[in-house]
Amino acid sequence: MIRIIEAKDYKDMSRKAANIISAQIILKPNCVLGLATGSSPIGTYDQLVEWYEKGDLDFSGVSSVNLDEYRGLDRENDQSYYYFMHKNLFDRVNIDPARTNVPDGTEPDAEKECARYEALIDSMGGVDLQLLGLGHNGHIGFNEPAPVFPKTTHCVDLTESTIEANKRFFASADDVPKQAYTMGIGTIMKAKKILLVVSGADKADIVAKAFFGEVTPEVPASILQMHGDVTLVADEAALSKIPR
Ligand code: F6R
Repeated sequence: MIRIIEAKDYKDMSRKAANIISAQIILKPNCVLGLATGSSPIGTYDQLVEWYEKGDLDFSGVSSVNLDEYRGLDRENDQSYYYFMHKNLFDRVNIDPARTNVPDGTEPDAEKECARYEALIDSMGGVDLQLLGLGHNGHIGFNEPAPVFPKTTHCVDLTESTIEANKRFFASADDVPKQAYTMGIGTIMKAKKILLVVSGADKADIVAKAFFGEVTPEVPASILQMHGDVTLVADEAALSKIPR
């Protein structure tokens, strides 16, 4: 069952999502947050930073694990997800950097890095609240449409549509990394709670398909229909095609 919270616009979506994350931190100050990159959560992070600056939020006990990272990009690369997280959240609040985790894109041994990351999440006691964005093809993390749902953290070949969508951040499509390390669908489904943020008319079709259509690995996010505690916070435009 998916709980849907309708927001007016991106700002309102970000505020509502930040409220849910904030409640999680207040209820369990030593919680494990699963975090995402992309344009969808930036406003949420900005709102959390604002509340932190006001003294309303304390990240000192919080740990985090990010969904994914490009394979081959190092931490200093301004397109790495490590860099993104520091710029948009970690460097702006009092989270302990030693307790923040992003897959290591520079580890050339994919199997080793993915096994390490999966074991790390387990050793932390699992994710309390996983924040997700939604790709136009229904991907979550970098779990692209496929014949089966990938279970654990793994190395993926990015699809043309994802490379196309992400090239705006690089000098050209040729510069976009072709692979990434990502939590698997099984890893994501193990999170106790899931919070999805989706905004914009360009996501309206995939929102309807993923949450009101058939559960299939060809639409990876559709599996969330089987999770017991999912909250979708989306703006009016993104919800414009769901059955009412
Ligand atoms: C980001 C991630 C991706 C994005 C998705 C939506 O860590 O794993 O699944 O959440 O591509 O991206 P935006 O928010 O830029 O539309």
